[in-house]
Amino acid sequence: MRKTQVAIIGAGPAGLLLGQLLHKAGIDTVILERQTADYVLGRIRAGILEQVTVDLMDEAGIGERLHAEGTVHHAIELVFQGERHPIDVAGLTGGKVVTAYGQTELTRDLMAARQAAGLPTVYEARDVSLHGFDGERPLVRYLHDGRTEELACDFIAGCDGFHGVSRAAVKDHVTEYEKVYPFGWLGVLADVPPVSPHAIVYGNSERGFSLCSMRSLTRSRYYVQCPLDDKVEDWSDQRFWDELRRRLDPDLAERIVTGPSIEKSIAPLRSFVAEPMRFGRLFLAGDAAHIVPPTGAKGLNLAASDVKYLSSALIEHYREKSATGLDHYSARALQRVWKAERFSWWLTSLMHRFPDTGAFGQRLQDAELDYLVHSRAASTALAENYVGLPL
Ligand code: APR
Ligand code: PHB
Repeated sequence: MRKTQVAIIGAGPAGLLLGQLLHKAGIDTVILERQTADYVLGRIRAGILEQVTVDLMDEAGIGERLHAEGTVHHAIELVFQGERHPIDVAGLTGGKVVTAYGQTELTRDLMAARQAAGLPTVYEARDVSLHGFDGERPLVRYLHDGRTEELACDFIAGCDGFHGVSRAAVKDHVTEYEKVYPFGWLGVLADVPPVSPHAIVYGNSERGFSLCSMRSLTRSRYYVQCPLDDKVEDWSDQRFWDELRRRLDPDLAERIVTGPSIEKSIAPLRSFVAEPMRFGRLFLAGDAAHIVPPTGAKGLNLAASDVKYLSSALIEHYREKSATGLDHYSARALQRVWKAERFSWWLTSLMHRFPDTGAFGQRLQDAELDYLVHSRAASTALAENYVGLPL
């Protein structure tokens, strides 16, 4: 029977980053991934990294391309009632910034580093099941190349996302908190220069939310809020570009460079947390334990902070034979998770149009936006959450 120290379920950002940090500390891991590497890399996800995440990539020894190709942002802009308002994020947080670097590229860097180190990742591992994690000898069973395999380990890290088996394996022991939003995001990726290369632009118009982001200086990422029952085929490129322009201020709308979409998809929005994040020798990290609406760009960054806490606790266990970090992992991770959940919910509530807002509610939203961009205290609160609260 194959044995390792930490069995990691899932080769997304959480699983790969955990594997890399543990490897740097001399701890053996095996990653079991349901899909192929190409499938994992084919997922289009967010692309805004907090400094915490950038620092972790450096700690893992794989920050080179991120620093070479990522774009540092010192500000964001809010567009409402036809006007655009800068929020000087760096100036309000003593110089903290965010970096635009696609999750796909971050995952690619992590995969390449793992492969270069000759570390085992089993792709197309099917029917993964978790056993014995409530005792001293966890075991992971899976199907690969038509054979049932067993992996004995000291610990299991459930990094298998929202639809994975890890949280499902403890479904009778978790408390779930969820909020589903009454709209989706229609996202478009296009190889055109971003309209605002140095500031992510968030819009709230009477037609709904919009977002102007980027993946590089030649690849842009845009979103518009859309009804949950919309279908991607309802949205031609031209309809998308026209709608996006309608939701921005005239100057920005005029400057949008359009082009054929290379990816177009609709994603629902939800807030979700499963508590606790530890069950004996099974630890949940990343989307396996929590989901945020993408407005605050926190999903990837929360996966990174979970991995920071979990890797430190596992390293402490092996080096110092101490269980302190492992015993405190869930409470420590959840404290940061809930603050990011709050921020993501707040920014989503502020920047989107809801069917049940009503006239009074709309005036409140207008007043909060006006207060936000004209109060240093309110802008500072936005900025310090946007760049990421301390670990
Ligand atoms: N067995 C093995 N692997 C699985 C299983 C399973 N039963 N179920 C899911 N997986 C794999 C998925 O194929 C995926 O590659 O686990 C991985 C989970 O990766 P993510 O869903 O990307 O989650 P995470 O690594 O926590 O990263 C969170 O990704 O989804 C975005 O918005 C999210 O930016 C955030 C980030
Ligand atoms: C993205 O580039 O995909 C992105 C940027 C900022 C967000 C959400 C998504 O708040």
